[in-house]
Amino acid sequence: MTVIVPKPDGAQKVGKPAASPASEFVPPYPFRYEQMPPVWTLIGLAKRNFLSIWGLDDFQSRLRNKKIFTRDLVICNRPDVVREAFQTNHEVLQRKSPQMRHALAPLLGDGLFISDTETWAKRRKIVAPIIHGSRVKGFAPIMIDTIDEKRADWAKLGDGAQIDALAEMAHLTAEIISRTIFGRQLGKDYAAEVVQGFSEYQRHIDQIDLFSLFGLPEWLPRIRGRSVKKPVKRIMTVLDEIIDSYDAQKQKGEASVIGGLLEARDDDGNPLSRDAIRSEAAVIFMAGHETTANTLAWAWFLLSQCGRARKKLQDELDTVLAGRTPTFKDVASLRYTKAVVEETLRLYPPVPILAREAMADTTIGGKRFAKGSLVMVVPWLMHRNPKLWSKPDVFDPQRFLDPKAKKPNKYGYVPFSIGPRICAGLQFGMTEAILSLAILAQSFDLKLKEGTDVQPVARLTLRPGDCLPMTLHPRRA
Ligand code: HEM
Repeated sequence: MTVIVPKPDGAQKVGKPAASPASEFVPPYPFRYEQMPPVWTLIGLAKRNFLSIWGLDDFQSRLRNKKIFTRDLVICNRPDVVREAFQTNHEVLQRKSPQMRHALAPLLGDGLFISDTETWAKRRKIVAPIIHGSRVKGFAPIMIDTIDEKRADWAKLGDGAQIDALAEMAHLTAEIISRTIFGRQLGKDYAAEVVQGFSEYQRHIDQIDLFSLFGLPEWLPRIRGRSVKKPVKRIMTVLDEIIDSYDAQKQKGEASVIGGLLEARDDDGNPLSRDAIRSEAAVIFMAGHETTANTLAWAWFLLSQCGRARKKLQDELDTVLAGRTPTFKDVASLRYTKAVVEETLRLYPPVPILAREAMADTTIGGKRFAKGSLVMVVPWLMHRNPKLWSKPDVFDPQRFLDPKAKKPNKYGYVPFSIGPRICAGLQFGMTEAILSLAILAQSFDLKLKEGTDVQPVARLTLRPGDCLPMTLHPRRA
């Protein structure tokens, strides 16, 4: 059987089967072509939406190699080659893609997210412990209080109120990360200013840096140079103010990431420079808020379209929590809630492409690739690879709970990346997402506004378009 799947330009084209019984929900994904279009068409598609460039074969493949002008583009799409690229060959493949570095360097400087070699190793050793899983219990009360404030705000809106669930989740996670980094009070005071600076910055950057893709020299000035200066200055001014007022806050005995950064010492006993502290605070803010926000927005969308999953989630919340607000201890018992988050991250990984630039010649899957090659792990593809997942396009949280369900190993499910550069905030992000969903879904049902067409769009992160109009409905006790 064949199905009609929408083409990015709105025309229709015949794709491969996505047949599934009516009880199964297949959420939207962009057109998948059968024959690779010319490279200019691909670049045009990529500029609009990076998810539209993949053909049916790309999802099934193990190791693919495409030549884009002078550069080799290597796509690792099975656990064995992902392991080889990101774990075994980490030394050679630890450098982020030129596109990623150019897009983020004006804001993040030499921050952990885009640095490599010695700088990265030094910073990772200092920053990772500050947000490590073992610290999440201490951050959980900030998360819970902030989510509870959102619940109270929603309660005031009344039954049927219309919200933009994407903006609401972005606001919630920005407040949480801001209060975590800067402390409760400073975080509250400055969250809006920092968020505006980041949004303004993001409007100016574009992950598809064509210069770099064509292999033009690193020193060539990038077009966006001047336009991002203003938002960067705005963010840095706020960070400076916060750092300057840290001592006063510290006296109130408050824990914060910025405090951890200010007090950190390297192996030689030296503190981080002011620049380094600003860069790492910006990294954690950037890495830690939009990713979780997009996950939550997608989860609301998926739950709104799949009554069975919604009911199971609500049943779990009603049984485990029996009406009380969850604590950190409850997270371990919210197994279905966690499975909803995991399945959301499988279908719509917030970072859909993980790209590295080879720092020297390297070998993957027995093939040799030259220095400068772009090596990618694409969670968007691998999480829907039919060789790894049964019914890969179907939304089914149960697959993460059923011991008999087909699941690939840890190199086949990589929403947080894998290897030494794995997300430093994995436990933080998972806990935050589970608590947010639990507290808000306990009290509200969210319905998609009628007539809304939701399509995944990937720029720097994967989102359900620019907004997600939904209506709020308080749940009866
Ligand atoms: C659902 C939520 C999240 C997802 C899906 C996610 C995903 C990722 C991914 C895929 C990377 C690697 C990117 C790459 O290789 O290009 C990454 C890196 C990172 N993430 Fe997260 N993240 C999440 C939440 C967070 C949070 C809450 C924090 C901080 C509290 C955080 C901090 C970081 C940092 C510092 C890095 C850089 C690690 C390094 O390069 O050594 N993330 N994240």
